[in-house]
Amino acid sequence: MPEHTKVMGKEWAEARREANVARLRATLATALAGRTGITFELGCGHGHWLAAYAAAHPAEFCVGIDLITHRVERSVRKQTLGKLDNVIFLKAEATEFLEALPPEVSLAKIFILYPDPWPKKKHHKNRFISAANLSLLASRATAGTRLHFRTDNADYFAWTGEHLAAHPCWQVEPEIGWPFEQKTFFEERMKDRRDVFARRAE
Ligand SMILES: C[S@@+](CC[C@H](N)C(=O)[O-])C[C@H]1O[C@@H](n2cnc3c(N)ncnc32)[C@H](O)[C@@H]1O
Repeated sequence: MPEHTKVMGKEWAEARREANVARLRATLATALAGRTGITFELGCGHGHWLAAYAAAHPAEFCVGIDLITHRVERSVRKQTLGKLDNVIFLKAEATEFLEALPPEVSLAKIFILYPDPWPKKKHHKNRFISAANLSLLASRATAGTRLHFRTDNADYFAWTGEHLAAHPCWQVEPEIGWPFEQKTFFEERMKDRRDVFARRAE
């Protein structure tokens, strides 16, 4: 690819990211007005898990995000049908969402269920769990915030444990039991399930 095309592509991607962050900032300023902490699900898919969790935890305010429009639409439908006033679902990319989150709002609990495992080695760089993204999550969490991670993929399970153990902001916890069971859309199709828990260090 010619150099000037690469530069233009990079500039376009940066402009699109800035526009997405600006749009999310405006949405979140209204949606989270007066709040200081949220229960956050990254990659909520069709919203099965977070809608049920929100119904069972009325004292928590929950936010689910996903990249895929029709999945977010189905999630919003669950919120509407359930008349749930303590959960919102947004179409957003996670790093853009975290950048747009109002400074006074922190992540009280973090849930990641069945993230894309990117099983081929050459695609591992696409996995959401990375040192940089764990730093970003930690920067929006508070001391004691628990990160809950569930996968069916043995390699991604090991990868996540290793990345968390190597990260100065997170402390891996022993198996403490998944706090709320509700089958997700993907879990219905999975044969295996492995959990990783960590706490934001003091
Ligand atoms: C395998 S699906 C699992 C969905 C849901 N948690 C479940 O168990 O049914 C992974 C989801 O993460 C979303 N996703 C992947 N990367 C993301 C990102 N950077 N920001 C937001 N969502 C993301 C995808 O769009 C997809 O819906």
